[in-house]
Amino acid sequence: MDAVTLKDVVKIYKMGKVEVPALKGVSFSVEKGEMVSIIGPSGSGKSTLLYMMGTLDKPTKGEVYIDEVEVSKLKGNELAELRAKKIGFVFQFFNLIPRMNALKNIALPMTFLGISKKEREERALELLEMVGLKDRWNHRPSELSGGEQQRVAIARALANNPSIILADEPTGNLDTKTGKEIIELLVALNKEKNQTIVIVTHEPGIAEKCRRIIHLKDGLIQKDEVKPS
Ligand SMILES: Nc1ncnc2c1ncn2[C@@H]1O[C@H](COP(=O)(O)OP(=O)(O)OP(=O)(O)O)[C@@H](O)[C@H]1O
Ligand SMILES: [Mg+2]
Repeated sequence: MDAVTLKDVVKIYKMGKVEVPALKGVSFSVEKGEMVSIIGPSGSGKSTLLYMMGTLDKPTKGEVYIDEVEVSKLKGNELAELRAKKIGFVFQFFNLIPRMNALKNIALPMTFLGISKKEREERALELLEMVGLKDRWNHRPSELSGGEQQRVAIARALANNPSIILADEPTGNLDTKTGKEIIELLVALNKEKNQTIVIVTHEPGIAEKCRRIIHLKDGLIQKDEVKPS
């Protein structure tokens, strides 16, 4: 089964009278349990592609399917629910809520699904343990290192057991060693939990950790490379 499918996706940003074509017709599927990296130069459309996959923005043309449901067919509230349940995001700048501690940050996405406070906090603690930060549960983001903040962000992305994790330059703001640890955590989640993961990066060393590498250039797939296992 496919976690995400894109069919002929075109995205043109309109800047007044100027049109910026960011994606020029992109088609591919990510199967459940795959770990894929999207690599390409700055401005090639990587983040735009991830936003399309995450239903954060609409394509100008083409179709996006999440778990084989075409998202343009959903109403606003159905789409918001699908996004909350099925997609976990990890960003370059972590995007944690500064005034909330690690536990509350991780528990937050579960409030949108109406899970009780007790259950939310139990699950958040489990996730903290999974990313090796149980003893930091009461730290706010400013009281955590960059790598720790990103681990909290990954735990938050996992909170609702999403079908897919989408990460945009998750190591872009970390030193090489810490970046490597974050990638190892994602590799472990993919292997041990069969978690589907898509990572946007411009670092070849990170892309190589994934069996499949999609090369993007000027808004088009230049190469879709799958290494033999
Ligand atoms: N909101 C926007 N409005 C107008 N143009 C945009 C917008 N977002 C991106 N673009 C343009 O679309 C193109 C693709 O941008 P995108 O952010 O997807 O690139 P990227 O591959 O993620 O680059 P980077 O590696 O620098 O993050 C770029 O030319 C960019 O200038
Ligand atoms: Mg980008």
